[in-house]
Amino acid sequence: MHVIAIDDTFAAWREAALQALAQRVVPEKIDWRIRDDAHAAAHTLFDDEAVTPFAPTVPAEVRLSRELAELLNDAALYREPARWAFLYRVLWRWHGGDRSVASPADTDGARLYKMAKAVRRAKHDMIAYVRFRLRDAADDTPTPDLPEYVAWYEPEHDVLAWSAEHFARRMGRSTWLISTPDGAAWWNGSALRLERGPARSGDHAAHTADEAEALWLAYYRSTFNPARLNESALEQHMPVRFWKALPEGSLIPSMISEAKSGARRIAQASGVGMLGGKSVPVDAHSAQPARQHPSTLDACRRCELWRHATQAVDGIGPGDAGIMLIGEQPGDLEDLAGKPFVGPAGRLLDVAIERAGLARDSLYLTNAVKHFKWMLRGKRRLHKTAAQQEIDACGYWLERELERVRPAVVVTLGATALGALLHEKVGLSDCIGETLDVNGMQVIATYHPSYALRQQHDEDRQRVLASIADALVRARELADAVKEQQRAPD
Ligand code: URA
Repeated sequence: MHVIAIDDTFAAWREAALQALAQRVVPEKIDWRIRDDAHAAAHTLFDDEAVTPFAPTVPAEVRLSRELAELLNDAALYREPARWAFLYRVLWRWHGGDRSVASPADTDGARLYKMAKAVRRAKHDMIAYVRFRLRDAADDTPTPDLPEYVAWYEPEHDVLAWSAEHFARRMGRSTWLISTPDGAAWWNGSALRLERGPARSGDHAAHTADEAEALWLAYYRSTFNPARLNESALEQHMPVRFWKALPEGSLIPSMISEAKSGARRIAQASGVGMLGGKSVPVDAHSAQPARQHPSTLDACRRCELWRHATQAVDGIGPGDAGIMLIGEQPGDLEDLAGKPFVGPAGRLLDVAIERAGLARDSLYLTNAVKHFKWMLRGKRRLHKTAAQQEIDACGYWLERELERVRPAVVVTLGATALGALLHEKVGLSDCIGETLDVNGMQVIATYHPSYALRQQHDEDRQRVLASIADALVRARELADAVKEQQRAPD
């Protein structure tokens, strides 16, 4: 048995794993341990305290597919002590020519995908739910080292370093600290410093407050409409485990109980109706001209749809999905939840996805238009078809998604999505069942699930549904063929 003691990082594991591979050490013969800092200086990379001496050698050369490399990188951040041994087994099998290890159908492959998926979710959660607070004026000591903003966050997996880089890119020269239970990240405006070990600054981060936060809380409270309280949608949108890290998290339980104990009936939170109006000055600089490129989808003012929507609904799914599905625009429920295809059309789409032997979370789902366009009919907000100039304006975001995800296959649901992708109005019926080549992507046009929902007779509904499922089967086959091609040795 070899004991390999490494720092708890992907780079350290990779270096050790490549050397072990070069010496053909089978996975069962390695006991992977995390080197503790006290011992680090005194030990070599390969610690032969057990049976076999292990001399460092020239590392093995391993050619990974891009997909496997990304899976390993992400799975390495999964909090589980046994992960290094597991990742070595994956690498060992791949190096031995066993490509099935990178498939979700394989037991190790499935575990790898599950770990990577959990880590990707933790990354997404961290950048969505970290809240920076301006440090208290009372804390203002002359130490130049203290950051302007602090945040406390408890990530589910080891994604602090990854998220810190994200925030470093987004927050310009403002200095900040993110503290977590097992490490901290500091940004001094130009360089990032990561510290491992139990947080020293959690309390400090948790107890600061600032004016912007007070304003945000007042705003959050004022937008809460007890008449529309839907606890499960609320929790789905913002899972309970994040509440404690969010300033608004402390408001939610009391708002829910207020709604349940009467406020729902009078349809307005006590206090909100009594607030006087407040004018908010908007300077010309912050109001974007329609055609400027906004930095985020939320800030998009390329058309007027944002004015009446709750929020922009971005695409969702793995950044390396082989198949992208494009719908028309979010509906009422999508607008409230901030996610595509969570309403009735989404449920029907799920049926087609399952029939086609696909998993929803392996697909990238998005829409041609990112804001809900609606008209009021009684109390209901009914879908209104987007105008061509709104579809064109939103094409900017669809292009970004296509560039980022680079799907091998795109399935357009309905005529709006097909037109948005082809940049021209096309008759959907002419294209149903056809596979088009658009800039190297295979594009399959099919019906929108809401077209199935609109059918009067069950047999027509079933026919449209079957046609959507067929298109998805075709998409799966094409995406698999492209993957196979990429896997084939040069
Ligand atoms: N219809 C769409 O086209 N997209 C959604 O996200 C929901 C309904």
